[in-house]
Amino acid sequence: MPLHLLVLTARLDALPLAWFSGRRVPAQRQGGPAQRGRVPPGGNNSRFGAVLLVMRVRTLIAAFWLLLVGPTGFAAEAPFGGKSSVRFAEKLWQALQGRGLVGEGAIHSRPYRGQHPHGAVLDTIEGKLIVAGRGGVVIVKRNYGGEGVSVSKVANNPDRWLKAVTVMFRRESGYDPENRDWFWAKYAPDGRLEKNANGVWLAGRVAKGSPKGCIACHRSARGNDLVFNNDRHR
Ligand code: HEC
Repeated sequence: MPLHLLVLTARLDALPLAWFSGRRVPAQRQGGPAQRGRVPPGGNNSRFGAVLLVMRVRTLIAAFWLLLVGPTGFAAEAPFGGKSSVRFAEKLWQALQGRGLVGEGAIHSRPYRGQHPHGAVLDTIEGKLIVAGRGGVVIVKRNYGGEGVSVSKVANNPDRWLKAVTVMFRRESGYDPENRDWFWAKYAPDGRLEKNANGVWLAGRVAKGSPKGCIACHRSARGNDLVFNNDRHR
């Protein structure tokens, strides 16, 4: 369990204790020497029982809350497909569009024969891009396919055969240190994000912890940089 959750659970349990001792002190002061040490009628014992109950309820709430947010903790999002990943993917697409790397009239490189799962024909462009005020390496892979697709057909009319745009963007260090801090996204040709078979948006650390998906497959790339095309990003 992450540390902040432990602290939070401990705080929830400490709350009624603080309330309990806060009430007891003035009661004793009023009592004078003769009453000191005696339990007031219907006093501390029943109050203590109530406090225990409150504590239990709070612990239950904390446990339920833990179940809800899962072991990754409160503000921490799922590794991919969450709100902030989707928002970042939108900004990434806008930045790519601003540089003419996606969308209508996008710059193309020479297409070549590809392989599963990316597509029968591919093209790859790499450079630097500023997203949300921060610069990083970006690699854009366009995935072409369809009945009768060929390299020359794609070269002549790329938009006609474009099936998906898969992007890797290197984020700030610490974003995903085990995986070289890459942000992954898969878009339809018009820039809408795609979902996986479970209905989760393909944006973020896709699909960290799973034996399939962008990260799992790209980890087999030479150079330990999760990039197949070159080994420049170790
Ligand atoms: C089953 C394996 C596999 C999966 C899953 C996969 N890729 Fe790839 N990817 C490759 C291979 C192989 C290449 C090199 C293809 C080539 O250029 O011939 C590649 C290339 C790329 C490149 C160009 C940079 C490079 O590594 O050469 C990008 C960008 C990319 N993939 C993004 C993604 C994204 C985003 C996902 C998930 C939505 C994904 N890939 C899922 C195998 C995979």
